[in-house]
Amino acid sequence: MEQVRNRLIVALDFETMDEVRQLVETLGDAVSYYKVGMQLFYGVGMECLTYLREKGKDVFLDLKMHDIPNTVAQGAASLTRLGVAMINVQASGGPAMMRAAAEKVAETAARLNIPRPKLIAVTVLTSMNETEWEALRSATTISDQVVHLARLAKEAGLDGVVASPQEASMIREACGEDFEIVTPGVRPQGAALNDQSRVATPAAALQSGAHYLVIGRPITAAQDPCAAALAILEEMGKA
Ligand code: C5P
Repeated sequence: MEQVRNRLIVALDFETMDEVRQLVETLGDAVSYYKVGMQLFYGVGMECLTYLREKGKDVFLDLKMHDIPNTVAQGAASLTRLGVAMINVQASGGPAMMRAAAEKVAETAARLNIPRPKLIAVTVLTSMNETEWEALRSATTISDQVVHLARLAKEAGLDGVVASPQEASMIREACGEDFEIVTPGVRPQGAALNDQSRVATPAAALQSGAHYLVIGRPITAAQDPCAAALAILEEMGKA
């Protein structure tokens, strides 16, 4: 289980620090990596990062930046200074934006002599289904677009992408072994789908080439979150 522990990222999709503390205490040593998204970060700000650092946890700060290259690069520099392990941008912001962010993250970390956070790109949200996709008048299929955006991210110098488990193997093939794939939309057998459309089980996600699994509600909304996390880690360990 040890070799998969740092590949499970539990999504702290909460509003208050009380909920965060309760879950992190409950999960204890079972979980070492957490995702802080917009709900929590916009709500409580730095308090959650300070708390998670004190607990010795790694943080994926999932703010999905999307703006002009200079603005995203400066934002990425600010997030680098926070000392988190992973940050992200929307690949649809384009190659110049991704390149500017990657350069700024590397430069900032080197200047401050701190570890460089991994910079990854969001391809297409895992909640996107064919109906939603058509509403955007997209000219390609979802999977073609995911692979295309992953290639652009790699060329721009990013470390990896967020993508659904169903696209992981195509990305592996297109971008190689070293390019990291972070997959939300993971659901153990029989778990509620919630609003996710393109899902896979933890074992299937790893087998198709995912490096990190981001899992929220199957753990955070479970009757016994620690048992749920341990069951997922066990399944990951066998994969
Ligand atoms: O509760 P659930 O397991 O669906 O949580 C998945 C997490 O991953 C959420 O925090 C969601 O915002 C995030 N995410 C996603 N799809 C992406 C990127 C991030 O579901 N493409």
